[in-house]
Amino acid sequence: MSGPANPYRPGAGVPPPVLTGRDDVLARFERVLEEVSSGEGQRPWAVTGARGVGKTVLLLELLQRAEDAGWVTARLEAGPPDSLAAALTRALYVPLRRALARGGERGGALSRLLTVFSAVRVTVDSSGRLSLGVDVDAAAAGAQLDDDAGLHRLLHALGLWVRDESRAALITIDELDAAAPADITALNRALHLLGQDDLPVPVHVVVTGNPTLLAGLARANPYAERLYVLHQLGPLDDAAAAGALTEPATHLGIRWDPAAVDRAVAESWGVPYMVQSIGSFAWQVRAGESISLPDVDAAVGLALAEARGMHLARWDGSTPAQQAVITALAALGGEAPLAAVAERLGRTERSLGRVRADLVARGVIEGREGRLRFTVPGFAAFVVENH
Ligand SMILES: Nc1ncnc2c1ncn2[C@@H]1O[C@H](COP(=O)(O)OP(=O)(O)O)[C@@H](O)[C@H]1O
Ligand SMILES: [Mg+2]
Repeated sequence: MSGPANPYRPGAGVPPPVLTGRDDVLARFERVLEEVSSGEGQRPWAVTGARGVGKTVLLLELLQRAEDAGWVTARLEAGPPDSLAAALTRALYVPLRRALARGGERGGALSRLLTVFSAVRVTVDSSGRLSLGVDVDAAAAGAQLDDDAGLHRLLHALGLWVRDESRAALITIDELDAAAPADITALNRALHLLGQDDLPVPVHVVVTGNPTLLAGLARANPYAERLYVLHQLGPLDDAAAAGALTEPATHLGIRWDPAAVDRAVAESWGVPYMVQSIGSFAWQVRAGESISLPDVDAAVGLALAEARGMHLARWDGSTPAQQAVITALAALGGEAPLAAVAERLGRTERSLGRVRADLVARGVIEGREGRLRFTVPGFAAFVVENH
């Protein structure tokens, strides 16, 4: 129907119209902004959560706040084909060019940083001003840094430069699980070394990944578990989910009936992706200036049919043993006592302990008081239909 444009944003890495329910972590980030700027060292952050919980859009919010505070920012996504060093080189290219345009001088911290990128064409004119070659080959530059200490050299040089400019830097690395193990080891080592400086450079690093990310990092370097500050993102609570639905509509003169909000919140299970998706479909099917209970019922059906990406990520990321438990739980309607799942599989509860714990750690199921339940709506039906 016509009227104001649909404000809801279901998708991957698409910022919501209103980011709700993350006040604690954002307040902690405000402290990081102050403390890192004033020269206090801060442990890097690891933000974990299952797909659709809002890791990427949280990173975007942190980047925005850092930029507003005048920080240099670089946004990376881990995974092939680039190494982390190459991705970081590429991501730093624009801020470096900007700095050079403002007049970088030979001999300063900026020129020292540039010497770390030995493959970047840096030229010096007669007055001693630096400029960057336009066709920087990030992959080649990264390759120069792919030895174990390369990332540390780069981050340290970056830190000296931003400190020289009385600024600080935020580096975000999304989906770190996708990085090569050698890269993860190099990153852990680099962050570990940075943290040992007497006068830490003002560089803050935030990585994201699956709920099991920290265990993976710790496999690479045993000290990793203490290296990072862990932020586990979970579903939105009812008030936050309700706010994410009603606030954007209110701004546009569209009203949610209270019963419709309650139903949408309940059916979303607080999963941010589902909140946006249900909101978006409800917006589309509504007939006037309010969103009613029948609108939400129709929207929930449409949203569940479109939740395939989230469901596939959970299924494909599971081992055969985990898939067996998932299939049994799905056949039992998606929520059941562990004993019932064990009986269906002809196993003892005890023998399922490990698989159950892994599924909980991955955020696929939650287990409370001996009962198991999937963490996203529609997953049981998806599994029954497809497997
Ligand atoms: N705090 C939040 N409030 C409202 N919507 C959110 C929130 N966090 C994420 N979303 C929405 O959820 C969806 C998934 O977010 P995304 O950051 O891609 O998740 P992830 O990176 O964890 O898979 C997007 O549509 C986004 O707009
Ligand atoms: Mg993401």
